[in-house]
Amino acid sequence: MCGIVGYLGNGNAKEIVLDGLERLEYRGYDSAGVGLFDSERKTYRIFKEKGRIDDLKRVINTESAAAGIGHTRWATHGKVTKENAHPHTSRNGRFIVVHNGVVDNFRALRSEYLDAFRLESETDTEIIANLFEVFAAALPVQDAIREGLKRLEGSYALLIMDREDSGTVYAAKHKSPLLIGSAHSGVVAGSDLMALADHADAYLALEDGTFAELRPDGFSLYDLNGGALDYTLREMDAEVVESDKGAYPHYMLKEIHEQPIILRRILDAYTDEEERPDFPNSVLETIRKSGRIHILAAGTSMHAGLVAKPLFETLTEKPAEVHVASEFAHHTPLIDSDSLFILISQSGETADLRACLNRLKDEGYPTLTVTNVRTSTLAREADAFVEIHAGPEIAVASTKAYSAQIAVLSLLAHAAGASGMPMKREISNIAQSIEKFLEQADAVHDHVKSMLEGKSHAFYIGRGVDHAVALEASLKLKEISYIHTEGLAAGELKHGTLALIEEGTPVFALISQPSTALHTQSSISEIESRGGRVLTIGTEDVAEEAHIALRKTHPLLAPLVLVVPAQLIAYYAALELGNDIDKPRNLAKSVTVE
Ligand code: M6R
Repeated sequence: MCGIVGYLGNGNAKEIVLDGLERLEYRGYDSAGVGLFDSERKTYRIFKEKGRIDDLKRVINTESAAAGIGHTRWATHGKVTKENAHPHTSRNGRFIVVHNGVVDNFRALRSEYLDAFRLESETDTEIIANLFEVFAAALPVQDAIREGLKRLEGSYALLIMDREDSGTVYAAKHKSPLLIGSAHSGVVAGSDLMALADHADAYLALEDGTFAELRPDGFSLYDLNGGALDYTLREMDAEVVESDKGAYPHYMLKEIHEQPIILRRILDAYTDEEERPDFPNSVLETIRKSGRIHILAAGTSMHAGLVAKPLFETLTEKPAEVHVASEFAHHTPLIDSDSLFILISQSGETADLRACLNRLKDEGYPTLTVTNVRTSTLAREADAFVEIHAGPEIAVASTKAYSAQIAVLSLLAHAAGASGMPMKREISNIAQSIEKFLEQADAVHDHVKSMLEGKSHAFYIGRGVDHAVALEASLKLKEISYIHTEGLAAGELKHGTLALIEEGTPVFALISQPSTALHTQSSISEIESRGGRVLTIGTEDVAEEAHIALRKTHPLLAPLVLVVPAQLIAYYAALELGNDIDKPRNLAKSVTVE
């Protein structure tokens, strides 16, 4: 969703801020803007545009800037307009602000402090800038900003410029991520490590309720009462720096191909040389002590949870339930007191999950976050976190994070339980099978052309964990190809959806479970006898004749191989349609609003 970047140092602020914004493009946005201190004109200048960063670049006519802040906006409150794009300024122009997050009490603030102000936009951010102006009438700038911050309810990551001091940028954070990096020639800040990647050697992820003063030679950190805070910078992660597309035409394709390497990386991280699982004891003990496991997640991460459920139930012999986070937050079911909550989130920032976490913490339940981003809010706020080591996932359509989540959760369930399953060997064989399969990716492209050309509806069917994969496969296909797709439990077809099958309707059938393969074959016959066109994707032990046959694997882990052709089907379908594969319309990578 929205992204922010700031820089203060030599005359490269324009380049560094725009580069940072481009690195955040993957998160999704519909307008962008920058505020720059123009070194030649010795004045602040603001440029905003609807649309892409390339559109913004065309209107910027500042050559060199010593300081800059920038923003990509994904509209939530207020339309996609130039007026609503950030930065926003206070009435007298003194404060220039970019903001991620949502100020819940902005109406109340407006009527209490800004009654006489004429506002230019529909945003809560303009209220923040004006609040600083109100307090700055009587207070030194730092105190004025802090007084403003203390009155905000909701979430914010803010970068603030003050026209009266071009040598300083202020930063503040509450419940929206913000990082500050020590740059090679100045200080850089951003809402995502990606924005800092090429410009900083080390960084600090700000804590809630902190406030920083950035200067070209470093930064000072304070609490909201002005008390100075110590901090230690963390070295920049090498994998973040290396995150470009390489030889691949799209991040999604690159990320699909990275899956075998990531599975091996996960095995290195969580098993020892004797193939024994290696997780912190405290995490394993929390799982062992719990009577029931609740998995909370959204979208693809929720689908990984559906795969993890039978793994936890089989390997730990504890009941496991999966909940859609946006539902759980508001319609909480009855919960046993010995429940453990596992929150799965690639980004670690999903607002629906943060709402659940706040509630669970208030009620005292143990929480464990499984995430790709160790600096994320969910990683920091849960009792414990386990990293999935997938490396930055840039494409909005999640692929490698899904398989990394399943692999880590499988190892975790295995470590907490007492089964004799050779988990390390299984996952290592799966990495090999995926590698082998990816060598024939072109054949999938051919299947896509013959199955989906000119189609606007499609179905995925499967039973058991094949159904869980069908849900993920269908989400993937619809989200980037915009072909309406449903994932169905194969046995449910005849209870209604069969009515939609007609001559040529494309149906992808997933078959990897020995116990239900024959049942799924019956569903296929029902579809074919009504003219539906079925493409089977299965493991060679149970679906020898499958159009796309994958190597045999443990049935509980079959989703790890089965999902790969489905990811490629989505990719090639979107490619054929000429869609923006890495940045599908209307979607954001990290969904930070409920
Ligand atoms: O960052 P999270 O894993 O919490 O995100 C959850 C969903 O928003 C995400 O998986 C979404 O469904 C993907 N775009 C699907 O490809």
